[in-house]
Amino acid sequence: MTEFKSLRIFVEKGVVTRRVELCRLEDLPDHDVLIKVHFSSLNYKDALSANGHTGISRHYPHTPGIDAAGVVVSDQSHTFKDGEQVAVIGFDLGMNTWGGLSEYIRVPKEWVISLPAGISLADAMRLGTAGVTAGYCLEKLLRNGLAGSQANVLVTGATGGVGSITVHLLASLGYKVTASSGKTDQYEWLTALGASQIIGRQDLSAESVKALLPETYDAAVDTVGQDTLVNILKSLKYGGSVAACGIVGGTAVPLDIYPFILRHVNLLGVASATASLADRQRVLAKYASHWRLRLLESLCEEISLEQVSERVDAMLAGTITRRALVKLC
Ligand SMILES: NC(=O)c1ccc[n+]([C@@H]2O[C@H](COP(=O)([O-])OP(=O)(O)OC[C@H]3O[C@@H](n4cnc5c(N)ncnc54)[C@H](OP(=O)(O)O)[C@@H]3O)[C@@H](O)[C@H]2O)c1
Repeated sequence: MTEFKSLRIFVEKGVVTRRVELCRLEDLPDHDVLIKVHFSSLNYKDALSANGHTGISRHYPHTPGIDAAGVVVSDQSHTFKDGEQVAVIGFDLGMNTWGGLSEYIRVPKEWVISLPAGISLADAMRLGTAGVTAGYCLEKLLRNGLAGSQANVLVTGATGGVGSITVHLLASLGYKVTASSGKTDQYEWLTALGASQIIGRQDLSAESVKALLPETYDAAVDTVGQDTLVNILKSLKYGGSVAACGIVGGTAVPLDIYPFILRHVNLLGVASATASLADRQRVLAKYASHWRLRLLESLCEEISLEQVSERVDAMLAGTITRRALVKLC
């Protein structure tokens, strides 16, 4: 009987407890593909799920982890070979399906990606949902008129998972990147990732009564939401776009129509969890070729399953600086 470690979240009478426990394969849901997980990662959504957020995970006890990379142990659908290196990024993994913060997962074959050549199991998780989301944001901006590498692109929540990959990706492609961050002690790191200008988090987060602000950015990737997103819309140049993907600053967006009808700006939504398998494969393949990130390894800090709980608290407090790569074997 195979026993394996898994992070289990318990919610009893409103009190959340997190424990690494020994589980058995019979505990896993009944799907086609059994995967031995080598690496996972930590995303903001994992922190919410690990904190008992029923908007993310309805039922507890639960194992979070929206990303996992490992090798196929068995596949009842015969789609994947035993030993094949694969990743699962998003879909329902770690939401209401047993997630990747576990030494084994069992998932539907429709969620499984064969890794492109040049992307290791660890790289797949260094990128994970954050990398795929950064890629979708860039693709959406390009489809909506982002041109010329001289464009000035703003990235908010810049030291976070999505933010830091986006900063590095855009800078690697030659864009002029303005990073917005609440961590003054990380400005040097953001500069090393390629940011050419850094502004404080508070420069964008205050409620503004003005209908428009000076035209500053050609485009933006926003992981924060709330007043930050409103201020970005007011600061975009004529015809500019913002790819909005995050809510760390809040979910309400008190919009004013003027940026849209006077500056022709675009508010673009990004939803990576529901993107198709083909979309995920296309974006990962780009990271294996012309989007290859020189500093990908240094974007992450490797941690163990036992260190996840402490990291979750730091993530929710907004104090972490690097994406976490969780090593499981
Ligand atoms: N739509 C999608 O498909 C999609 C996919 C992935 C993630 N997301 C969302 O994107 C956001 C970021 O995810 P992540 O995994 O990158 O999270 P993360 O690693 O925790 O990064 C969040 C960053 O936001 C900044 N921040 C923290 N608290 C803040 C606050 N109260 N106000 C403003 N900024 C704050 C911090 O950066 P600084 O200190 O540098 O400011 C922090 O490092 C989350 O809301 C997540 O749900 C959405």
